[in-house]
Amino acid sequence: MAIIPNPHKTTGFLGWIDDRFPATKLWKDHLSEYYAPKNFNFWYYFGSLALLVLVNQLITGIVLAMAYKPGAETSFDSVQYIMRDVSWGWLIRYLHAAGASAFFLVVYLHMFRGILYGSHRKPRELVWIFGALIFLVLMAEGFCGYVLPWGNMSYWGAQVILSLFGTIPYIGHGLQVWIQGDYTPADATINRLFSLHVVALPFVLVGLVIAHLIALHEVGSNNPDGIEIKKKKDPTTHIPLDGIPFHPYYTVKDIVGVTVFLILFSAVIFFAPEGGGYVLEKPNFMPANPQVTPDEIAPSWYFCVFYAMLRAVPSAFGTQIWGVIVMFAAVLILFFLPWLDRSPVKSIRYKGPIFKVAVVIFALDFLMLSYLGMHKPSPLFTAMARFGTFYYFLFFLGMPIYTRIDKTKPEPERVTA
Ligand code: HEM
Repeated sequence: MAIIPNPHKTTGFLGWIDDRFPATKLWKDHLSEYYAPKNFNFWYYFGSLALLVLVNQLITGIVLAMAYKPGAETSFDSVQYIMRDVSWGWLIRYLHAAGASAFFLVVYLHMFRGILYGSHRKPRELVWIFGALIFLVLMAEGFCGYVLPWGNMSYWGAQVILSLFGTIPYIGHGLQVWIQGDYTPADATINRLFSLHVVALPFVLVGLVIAHLIALHEVGSNNPDGIEIKKKKDPTTHIPLDGIPFHPYYTVKDIVGVTVFLILFSAVIFFAPEGGGYVLEKPNFMPANPQVTPDEIAPSWYFCVFYAMLRAVPSAFGTQIWGVIVMFAAVLILFFLPWLDRSPVKSIRYKGPIFKVAVVIFALDFLMLSYLGMHKPSPLFTAMARFGTFYYFLFFLGMPIYTRIDKTKPEPERVTA
C-alpha cells in the first residue's frame, strides 16, 4: 500500500520515520517553530528546571528502587546498604533526597511567577489547573517518599498525616485503618506507599506534565508584560512580531539557568547533603520506633506552610477536622485563581498598588507560615499562624474585590525589552 509522503519533505531515515510518525512535526510545533515571547526573564527558568528535576527524580528513583527493600524490617537497613555498600549509592540517594527539596523550591518559584504575571488568566486557565493538579500529586509523591526510609521521622510523619484521614466523621477510623493496612503505620503501609511512590504517582505526574505543556503550547506562553503576542502577527508569515523560536533561542538561554542550578545543587549534594537538617532531618537517622516520639514532629520544610495552618485551627467539638479542611482548602483554592483575579491587566508591571502590596505580604506570609510550621507551637506562634492563615485566604478570597478597584496602568501594545 502506498504511503502518503510527509508534508515536511524530509528524506532518508528521517523521511522514513516522518512518513510513519510525526517526529519533525513535533520538533517544529514544540521547539523550532514554537514562537515564545522575546522578553522572558529570570522567572521563566523555573519551568525548564522543574522538568530537569523531574527527570533527575525519575532516574535516581529507578536506580534506588534496584537496591531498596520495602518493609518494616528491611527499609531502614536497605537505605544504609545503599549509602555504604552500593557503588555510588550515596550519590544516587543524595541526588534523590535533595532533588525532592529542589523540586518543591523550583515549583513554588514557578507558581509564584504565574501569580506575578497573571499566567493563570484566560486563555491559560487549563495550564494553571494542570499545574495545580501536578502540585497536589507532587505533595502525595513527596509524602510517600518520605516514609520509605522508615526512619523515626518517617514513622511519626506517617502517623500524623495518615491520622488526618481518621478525623473524617463516621468513616474516619475505618478509612485510616484501611489505608494503613494496620492500626498504626506498619509493614503493609510501607508496601502500599512504595507502590504509590514508584508506580502510580510518577505515571500520573508525567501524564499531567505532558498535559500541562500541551495546554501551554496550544495557547502560547505568557510573558512578563502579560500581553498576548499572538495579537500582533506578521501579515505574510503569520508569525507573532514579538515571538522568537523556542529553539535555539530559549534552549540556549535555559542552559544558563540549568548551569547555575547545577552549581548550587552540586554544592548541596557534595558539601551539605543533609541541607542543614532541611533535606534530611536528624530523627530520620534513627530507625522507626513507635516508642520514641521525636522532640518535634515537623514535616519536610516544603509542607510546613500547610502544617502551620493545620495546627493554627483550634479543635472544636472534639475534632481536628476543621484544621484538615482549612489545610486542604489552602491547596484547593489555587484551582480557582484564574477566576478570582478580576484585574483588567495580567502582569504585576501594570497592576495597581493594592495588588503589589498584597502580593509582597503574601510572599512574606508564606515564609512566616513555613517558619512557624517548622517550630514548636507557643501562644505567640499560634497567634501568628492564625493571622498568617487568615491572610493567606484573604489574599485569594479578597482578590475579586481588590483587583477590581485597584488603579492599573495601561498595558503596552508590544512587549517591552
Ligand atoms: C512537575 C512540575 C512542573 C513542570 C515540569 C512544569 C513545566 C512547565 C514548563 C516547562 C513551562 C514552560 C516554561 C515556563 O513558562 O517556565 C511551564 C509553564 C507554566 N506552568 Fe508549569 N510546570 C510544573 C508545575 C506547575 C505548577 C504546580 C503550576 C501552578 C499551579 C504551573 C503553572 C504554569 C503556568 C501558568 C505556566 C505558563 C507560564 C507562562 O506562560 O507565563 N506549573 N510549566
